[in-house]
Amino acid sequence: MSARTPAAQVLPSALPAHVAIIMDGNGRWASSQGLPREQGHRRGADAVRAVVRAAREIGIRALTLYAFSAQNWSRPGAEVGHLMDLLRTFLIDERAEILARGIRLVSIGDEARLPPLVRLPLRALVRASARNRGMTLCLALSYGGREAIVAAACKLARAVSDGRLRPEDITETLIDGTLDTRALPPVDLLIRTSGEQRLSNFLLWEGAYAELYFTPVLWPDFDRCELENALAAFARRERRYGRFVK
Ligand code: FPP
Repeated sequence: MSARTPAAQVLPSALPAHVAIIMDGNGRWASSQGLPREQGHRRGADAVRAVVRAAREIGIRALTLYAFSAQNWSRPGAEVGHLMDLLRTFLIDERAEILARGIRLVSIGDEARLPPLVRLPLRALVRASARNRGMTLCLALSYGGREAIVAAACKLARAVSDGRLRPEDITETLIDGTLDTRALPPVDLLIRTSGEQRLSNFLLWEGAYAELYFTPVLWPDFDRCELENALAAFARRERRYGRFVK
């Protein structure tokens, strides 16, 4: 297989079930074009549309996008407001296509912190798409991996203190089933754009055995071809899960 084998040639059995993406570099893309940061986010939202469509067509079962982290609330108010507007526009404008393509929308993160202008269309589309089986699109919104683990630990601690659970019954499977990602397969491939090589508090538990793929491409420039490159690289990886393989 060449370094540029397109995903169309990757056997379905070699495709990752769950792809997660840290969409980074909107601001740098905007500066490189001499544009305000908001334009970078706007073009980033266009890239989201293209990548969701491509993932669905290629046959990815689950796609999780890090759209707004728990830490992103500390950005300037105007930027946060602009990102919320883009999320709302996405949820409203893409609703028909998401439903027509059989995509199930879910979200992870602190939904209660989202403004109603995002929360309401989000909830409505999650509900309307709940029976779809084509692909699960998971938006990580006001999300942090540590925060998610803390929330799961609190739930389990409450169950122990109420006498519904014994500490010795806490297993990996139980923790898996307590996290909001419980309906998703484990993350197989985690992509980060813009050349940064960090996890930035994304899917810390779920990505324990994820293959990491870092690309210098800035998120607004990430398209179907870039996704196919990542999938082809994944197909060439040997996954050992700590086992000895001769
Ligand atoms: C990182 O770029 C990106 C974000 C903080 C937000 C991601 C949001 C989008 C792609 C657009 C809206 C999303 C949806 C789902 C419609 P950055 O601003 O940190 O870039 P920089 O590191 O170059 O400054």
